[in-house]
Amino acid sequence: MSEHTHRPVPVLEAVAGIVPPRVVSNEDLPAHWDTNDVWVRRRTGIGTRHWVDEGTSTGDLALAAAEAVLAKSPAGDVDAVVVATSTPDHPMPGMAPVLATRLGLGGVAAFDVSAVCTGFVYGLATASGMITAGIARRVLLVAADVYSTLISPDDRGAGVVFGDGAGAVVLRAGESGEAGEVLGFDLGSDGAGHDLITVPGGGARGRAEPGRYGPADCHFRMSGREVFQHAVTRMTESSLAALKNVGWTTSEIDRVVAHQANARILSLVGQRLSISDDKVLGNISRVGNTGAASIPLALADAVARDEIHAGEKVLLTAFGGGFTWGSATLVWPEIV
Ligand code: UT7
Repeated sequence: MSEHTHRPVPVLEAVAGIVPPRVVSNEDLPAHWDTNDVWVRRRTGIGTRHWVDEGTSTGDLALAAAEAVLAKSPAGDVDAVVVATSTPDHPMPGMAPVLATRLGLGGVAAFDVSAVCTGFVYGLATASGMITAGIARRVLLVAADVYSTLISPDDRGAGVVFGDGAGAVVLRAGESGEAGEVLGFDLGSDGAGHDLITVPGGGARGRAEPGRYGPADCHFRMSGREVFQHAVTRMTESSLAALKNVGWTTSEIDRVVAHQANARILSLVGQRLSISDDKVLGNISRVGNTGAASIPLALADAVARDEIHAGEKVLLTAFGGGFTWGSATLVWPEIV
């Protein structure tokens, strides 16, 4: 590309989020978990979460979120579909081609991104890169997870935290300086923490070593306390790196939307960044931790509640299994 060639920039055009209808309050949690509303609220900030009913899977939530965002943003021009999930309907194939077909999008580029709870930010970086490189002009990015199908029936630690949901955005090729421009990223990983958030069984390692894993190893496992510390540190550091990349100071930030991991994590990240609580948006008390879906779901809620406005400087930050982490900066668009 010559230096005179006009490079498109990624611009956020629309956002939508959905949760399945079944509300699970802290009182509704399984009795054998021997937990209670006071403990869950104090340790996580969560009051309710939504769990899918039997028969509903990630692909169904992804479809509903995609339809909701495309209702605000014409489907005709979508030329790529990216799905971020760590609870896919099947080990193979990826979810995005099926979703594109269910949406009637024809033979567009379609693939999945696997970065656990950082999946939306990695997906946003991937979609942005496709636009900047001229590979796509309008990308549908859907982040969807149904952790309720993956948690061990005996795991009250993770069980109280996770909810199901899906969020979606449309990114389009636009002009530098437009409201909605996605300006920059910081992405990182540390595989040394791979076994602190994991589903050990069900993959090629188990097939290569018959007998190594049993059925219980196909459930989600999280070393909550250790993960907590890493989440605070990495989201803080990554946020600062993303701000540095774009030349913003923390005091310039109007809104922070972080992966809704745990309310205590979010408040510690806000404190370490010296960003006041009123600028930190979220919906964890209502939906819990919805994995990759949590940032677009929180953004959709913020729009619905009129908490985020065109022209505001927005920081997104996430942390998840892998470990992976990532942050993005953007200027909020006029949104329907
Ligand atoms: O989304 C990707 C990243 N994920 C995260 O960032 C999640 C990070 N971790 C967490 O959110 C928290 O670690 C949890 C909410 C998962 C757990 O909270 P915690 O404060 O770290 O609890 P803990 O696992 O250290 O357990 C402390 C105590 C234990 O009792 P003892 O041994 O001190 O007597 C647990 O048995 O709390 C007990 N406990 C519970 N009690 C009532 C653990 N879970 C529960 C529960 N209800 N649900």
